Amino acid sequence: MAGKLYGIGVGPGDTGLVTLKARDILNACDIVAYPVKIPGEGSVAFDIVRPLVDLKDKRIEEFVFTMDPEDSVRVNCRAKAVDRMCEFLDMGMDIAMVTLGDPGVYSTYMRINDMISERGYETEVVPGIPSFCHGASVAGLPLMIGEEGLAVVPVAKENSRLLSDAMDEFDNIVVMKAFKSIPMIVEMMESKGMDLSKATVICNVGMEDEYVGPIDLDREYGYFTTVLIKKR
Ligand SMILES: C[S@@+](CC[C@H](N)C(=O)[O-])C[C@H]1O[C@@H](n2cnc3c(N)ncnc32)[C@H](O)[C@@H]1O
Repeated sequence: MAGKLYGIGVGPGDTGLVTLKARDILNACDIVAYPVKIPGEGSVAFDIVRPLVDLKDKRIEEFVFTMDPEDSVRVNCRAKAVDRMCEFLDMGMDIAMVTLGDPGVYSTYMRINDMISERGYETEVVPGIPSFCHGASVAGLPLMIGEEGLAVVPVAKENSRLLSDAMDEFDNIVVMKAFKSIPMIVEMMESKGMDLSKATVICNVGMEDEYVGPIDLDREYGYFTTVLIKKR
């Protein structure tokens, strides 16, 4: 019988936020897998679950998903990784692929899930706590309350329109992938007459060097940076 692929959301950084279900599946599976952009770069998601899983008799496998700007390179790379996963599944091995936060929030995992499922294998997605949910709880802020709505948008120079529309239309905005765009977010808030105190930076939440606080333009922000804007 073919193996099954699990996509395991492991939360944003704190091992204590991994669900019991995720831990049990990781301990029961044959292979713990993690996606990387560059071979050998390691995985924050794998480091989060490492203390919870008995890795003695398990295979640990990295699967490369390049972020090459060329579409065809990314597609080929993905197909190669999926072929290799199918080889393991054909051997009857269950694979648990870990992914940061929740698999449904900007994670490559869901593409892999579809590709594996289209090839006729069984798959299951196990939710994790998204980074912005943990960040809002550390900040002591409700993501939305009463009749309010919430927009979750990724930010980059090319899609600043999406952020602008979200700021115009929603009471609460979660800005993902904000690390290079803090000055742009500040500029946009100011141009709309919004007070900067309405923005909270959520940086490396659940990790050793966590910062959750106001926007500080003199700070360096790494990849794990999200901004929560609450208009009221
Ligand atoms: C590819 S997305 C992955 C999102 C993830 N699946 C989730 O549920 O949060 C990467 C973005 O998620 C956010 N992120 C992930 N982990 C984070 C953390 N520990 N602290 C703050 N933001 C984080 C950042 O905005 C980062 O650029």
